Amino acid sequence: MTRSYRFPDDFIWGAATSAYQIEGSPLADGAGPSIWQRFAHTPGMMANDDHGDIACDHYRRYQDDVQLMRALGLQSYRFSVAWARVLPEGTGRINQKGVDFYSRLVDALLENGIEPNATLFHWDLPAALDDRGGWLNRDSAHWFAEYASVMFKALDDRVRRWSTINEPWVVTDGGYLLGKLAPGHRSKYEAPIAAHNLMRASGAAIEAYRATGRHEIGVVFNIEPKYPASKKPEDIAATQRAHAYMNEQFADPALLGSYPPELKEIFGEAWPDFPADDFRLTNQAVDFVGINYYTRSVVKHDDEGYPCRASRVRQANVTHTETDWEVYEQGLADTLMWFKQRYGDLPLYITENGAAFYDPPVAEGDVVDDPLRITYLRKHLRVLHQSIEAGVNVKGYYAWSLLDNLEWSLGFAKRFGLYHVDYATQKRTPKASAKFYAKVIETNGEGLGG
Ligand code: BGC
Repeated sequence: MTRSYRFPDDFIWGAATSAYQIEGSPLADGAGPSIWQRFAHTPGMMANDDHGDIACDHYRRYQDDVQLMRALGLQSYRFSVAWARVLPEGTGRINQKGVDFYSRLVDALLENGIEPNATLFHWDLPAALDDRGGWLNRDSAHWFAEYASVMFKALDDRVRRWSTINEPWVVTDGGYLLGKLAPGHRSKYEAPIAAHNLMRASGAAIEAYRATGRHEIGVVFNIEPKYPASKKPEDIAATQRAHAYMNEQFADPALLGSYPPELKEIFGEAWPDFPADDFRLTNQAVDFVGINYYTRSVVKHDDEGYPCRASRVRQANVTHTETDWEVYEQGLADTLMWFKQRYGDLPLYITENGAAFYDPPVAEGDVVDDPLRITYLRKHLRVLHQSIEAGVNVKGYYAWSLLDNLEWSLGFAKRFGLYHVDYATQKRTPKASAKFYAKVIETNGEGLGG
């Protein structure tokens, strides 16, 4: 007998994007610049000198893009709000035209039967706030709560699921430790401070939501499970450090109100003594947690490995994506089980999962054949189904991404979309994976069996 992959009846199928990666027109209608606008126009920071000035032109084509979502049968769409469109200086003056854009987007989604799922911060901090220290300034928690409250007031009548921060680890590791992402700092001293303030900010926004909000709010982590390369105690200890650094550094203060002890070991004298009272703010009750899952890493001890004295051991004879991420679907099951054991039985959403693979250029009338992406999605969705059967409380899944888009400093060359985007013409073409995913949604997972 063939296995059934039918998902629970109330399971939510969606796709995700983020503002700077798709919208274009970053300064339109009175918006202020963000740190990504600045970073992308700083010579040498972006592959191929790419930037988000046009991107997928979604700011002007959002109506058409909602029709693409409808064609997929999406039940929910996860997008992010560009803070600097709404508050050009980051705090204070509200730019109503910026709010109106998201209000129109939300209306268009609802008119087409698609539930909006809004993320408040997907990395595009207003540049004016960076000038005041950005996430290094303790006031950032209050700035963020102020901005979040503006959005709650404008959209909570129609948006029923909010997330505060997307992937704080990437913000701090890429933006404050390694300098590969905006704002491009490289400091072991700054990274833990930025991380801590991001989690204070998330907590402050949740606290603000409890005062006025009527629906659900949570936070989104990218969890990358770590596996030791050998049974040697030094590899096992390195693996635990890498796990504490990437995963627990963010989920622990939010969900347990503490930090794992390895962080002090990793950062040494750069690890601050945070005021105990801060953990009251970071540790707010959430309605759900979003997990972004892409890959795992196998870890060995390495004295040169920065900052954890650990490095990744690239696995041989397995598929890697164009971003050199190992395809390892079992890591999703392990992540979900770990999460449940450590943090309790919270409702979870897979808020991102997907892969960049080479897609051939599209000629008129072509279908974009992307068998590797289909295989990736099928494998992960089958594992997700097993996890749910094993008792993990996952309530929905969002493919990353609806459209090919700006893969941050890697530029447009890395394509994660279900729809191919021709950046010269802005033509969208469904990939074979879009058709596959539409069938999965239509059959509530049953289509994964065939
Ligand atoms: C981010 C996305 C990004 C994707 C693929 C996640 O880290 O939230 O913005 O495009 O992964 O790298």
